[in-house]
Amino acid sequence: MLVGHGGNIHALADRLKCPASEICDMSSNVNPFGPPKGLMDHLAAALDRITALPEVDAETMTRCFATRHGLAPGSVLAGNGSTELIYLLPMVMGWRSVAIAGPTYADYADACRLAGVAPRLVTARRADAFRPNLDLLSAAATQAEALFICNPNNPTGVLLEREHLVALCAAHPDTDIIVDESYLPFVPGAAGYSLLGSGLSNLLVLSSMSKIFRLPGLRIGFVHGTEATIDRLRQRMPPWSVNALAQTAVIYLMSAREEMQRFVSASCRRLHAARQGFHQALADVRGVEIFPSCTSFLLMRLSAEWTASDVWEAMAEARILIRDCTNFEGLDDRYIRISLKAEEANQRAAAFLRQLLAGVGGRA
Ligand SMILES: Cc1ncc(COP(=O)(O)O)c(C=O)c1O
Repeated sequence: MLVGHGGNIHALADRLKCPASEICDMSSNVNPFGPPKGLMDHLAAALDRITALPEVDAETMTRCFATRHGLAPGSVLAGNGSTELIYLLPMVMGWRSVAIAGPTYADYADACRLAGVAPRLVTARRADAFRPNLDLLSAAATQAEALFICNPNNPTGVLLEREHLVALCAAHPDTDIIVDESYLPFVPGAAGYSLLGSGLSNLLVLSSMSKIFRLPGLRIGFVHGTEATIDRLRQRMPPWSVNALAQTAVIYLMSAREEMQRFVSASCRRLHAARQGFHQALADVRGVEIFPSCTSFLLMRLSAEWTASDVWEAMAEARILIRDCTNFEGLDDRYIRISLKAEEANQRAAAFLRQLLAGVGGRA
């Protein structure tokens, strides 16, 4: 296993000799308002399902996900989180050249390297607020057999419009284009951006239940593609990849449609307000640049007086865990990412950061 992920709350709790519950974890990009209560009640009542084997291929929950999104069941494969599918893809598809729109989530590159391919990163520029250059992506798609795009992107929060991605797929029919929509449910009107069901033969769409429903411990993800590609992937999946509670959760989430719509809309509204609050609280602090984001996290660049690890340390001492983005390829030691939480925690973190950065960087 490769380890390059975000902060580990348990390691910090050990270091500070405090319970993990006393640390505000702003390093993990999960919806602070989840999980939905109805789901937790349902799972509590269904706990005895762990005493029997789940469906070997998670067929029922896969059908529920497919129906909910208007897809053919054979065009969807469920995995132990989208992570399992990210690692499965390069192994099965046998790509000899891969491009990745970056800076982005490291697991696409790690998965490719494990499968023996050295990917090429097509890095967006800070001057463009990290919005990918579509011409460069198109050029990369001409040269590579596969192109990964995270939309919206982690850690930049940038969202590409559907028509651009459709045009990219259509212009490169011989290149597999993988679009990771794990954070798309955080975007109001997400369906208008989603590529699920767009019917493009070279497109693979990744979805995750971990982020929007705050269920990273259940491990639920999906990949959607043509039935032929999904069939190839399915042949290489281990049995019982998705556990019994995860299967129960998806069946519930997909059937409680109105409850989930209300939950997602309310989460998006509150996160929008939280983003605005964070921007306002730090607006006149010279020591930091906050990039526009449409998700639950904010990428920030520190002024030259600071490194990400200085700020990480100072915040860790205050029991606030953030993501030092130094190890994101295409960023450097001046970038941090903060995942928004409920209002009080955001205010505390913003006030702390403001005081810290204003102390050295000075105010505008
Ligand atoms: C962009 C992106 N995709 C996929 C994942 C993996 O999520 P999961 O395996 O929990 O579905 C993550 C996790 O942080 C992520 O940031």
